[in-house]
Amino acid sequence: MIPPFFMLTNKKILIGVSGSIAAYKIAVLVRLLVKEGAIVKVIMTPASTAFVTPLTLSTLSKNEVLHSLATDSSWANHVLLGRWADVMLIAPLSCNTLAKMAHGLCDNLLTAVYLSATCKVLVAPAMDEDMWHHATTKENIEKIKSFGNLVLPVHHGELASGLRGEGRMAEPEEMITYLQNYFQQHTTLAGKQIVITAGPTYEPIDPVRFIGNHSSGKMGIALAEECKNRGATVLLIHGPIKQQIPVGMHSISVQTAQQMYDACMKVFENTDIFIMAAAVADYAVAEISETKIKKKEDELILTLHKTPDILKQLGAIKKKEQLLVGFALETDHEKENAIKKLKLKNADYMILNSMRDKGAGFGYDSNKITIFDKAENCFEFALKSKKEVAADIVNTITQKGHV
Ligand code: CTP
Repeated sequence: MIPPFFMLTNKKILIGVSGSIAAYKIAVLVRLLVKEGAIVKVIMTPASTAFVTPLTLSTLSKNEVLHSLATDSSWANHVLLGRWADVMLIAPLSCNTLAKMAHGLCDNLLTAVYLSATCKVLVAPAMDEDMWHHATTKENIEKIKSFGNLVLPVHHGELASGLRGEGRMAEPEEMITYLQNYFQQHTTLAGKQIVITAGPTYEPIDPVRFIGNHSSGKMGIALAEECKNRGATVLLIHGPIKQQIPVGMHSISVQTAQQMYDACMKVFENTDIFIMAAAVADYAVAEISETKIKKKEDELILTLHKTPDILKQLGAIKKKEQLLVGFALETDHEKENAIKKLKLKNADYMILNSMRDKGAGFGYDSNKITIFDKAENCFEFALKSKKEVAADIVNTITQKGHV
């Protein structure tokens, strides 16, 4: 593992400065980040330019500092800025900018970049104690946390008003440590190639009909996102899904189980971790009609053939250092069936979903899982959002040091 003091080398850090007296400390922060080898860009709200000048920050960051959405002759591409960064750190975060973040207002460059940022956003609030303890501020902080933003703690001490209390911005040195720890945690899967399958497969009957299932692909996508956020190179092989594929990963779209099998086989050799979260059809129509099947007799009999069992085939050729993870969706005898599948398919982990658990399974945003390993150890988890479930799965399958 890379020691924390090298964690910021070549990291792209976008600092958003909003209007607070603590803005003067950002000059020190930028200086320290550059010394750590980070690539730093700074954007400012118009109000913050009264506390520290763009010239100071552009000189220290060695990059142009932008503070408006457009000049007479050019437009600041806020979307590209938010995509450029590995992390956006809004420091100091004023009460006003916090409120705008909580409510989706974007009347300046900083808030427009925030709304279009695809990277993690960290904030370091700075305000007087009474503002910090105001019910609206508390609510807004909770709101931006619920959006996935990370909030650095504020300190107790002397404030701009001359009073003492809570609301002081974290010191630049602390922000550096926070960023180092953040990158260390989020690079645990750096250099790993991870393939995740998601969604249903559709098996055509004729040009207008198919056999499918209700899988939405949400669990597979949450897993793909979690692995990407931990620094892995992620390939998502997905069946027909309505979900948007998150940015920052590769994807292959397939329709049928056979197509999914072909795509999986092609990439398996170079994969460190392979997670089969897709609900693959077990049977496909033996003879697909080239024309629409017309309604004739009272009964229509279709002959179905077994599709390839992708997980089982991967289990048969898997190398010792590769980690193979499957899902088992069960309606009865859950544990026995999950363990049976784990062994039969030579997977390292099997993640059990029971259709009997409320709020778990196809289509929901939540899930309740139990993970089994080869030694039949069983890790049970509560009902959680699919995002949290994805973190539990990744933590569990990587904890034994296989990766
Ligand atoms: N799976 C697969 N290829 C298939 C069917 C399933 O790779 N043709 C994978 C799934 O992606 C999942 C695991 O096998 O990771 C178990 O899938 P599941 O549908 O629960 O079980 P099946 O093996 O299909 O058995 P059954 O339908 O009888 O429960």
